[in-house]
Amino acid sequence: DDFTDYQAETATISQGVVESNHAGYTGSGFVNYDNVTGSYVEFSVSAAAAGAQSLTFRYANGTTTDRPMAITVNGVTVATGHSFPGTGAWTTWNEISVNAPLNAGANAVRATATTADGGPNLDRLRVSGPGDTEKPTS
Ligand code: GCU
Repeated sequence: DDFTDYQAETATISQGVVESNHAGYTGSGFVNYDNVTGSYVEFSVSAAAAGAQSLTFRYANGTTTDRPMAITVNGVTVATGHSFPGTGAWTTWNEISVNAPLNAGANAVRATATTADGGPNLDRLRVSGPGDTEKPTS
């Protein structure tokens, strides 16, 4: 394999809580973002070499309203308000991916809610390199 998973429940959380009341998450739980603009989860991602990587966020949104989030890497905006649309149920987890350049060594990958609804429930971040041949679907 050529990916590394980072669980949201062990990341840095600002305005959110770790919960485990909706099945289907990986690890020991997920982050329930507070329903406010600016709530975020920040992952510390280690890269062996500088270059573009795929950042895949696994999430659930049991509402029918989009929960867009800004994605930044080391403070640089990668996506201003990436869509995290409804998944149909809080127990249905989908993935969205963005590509972003990482530095060699530690990188701060942050997903920040851009609306007053806050973010979706966030399970994990999967980081995969350009040589990855596995589909990040589970
Ligand atoms: C419900 C759900 C939570 C979710 C919240 C929300 O309370 O149980 O898991 O985070 O809605 O709308 O953000």
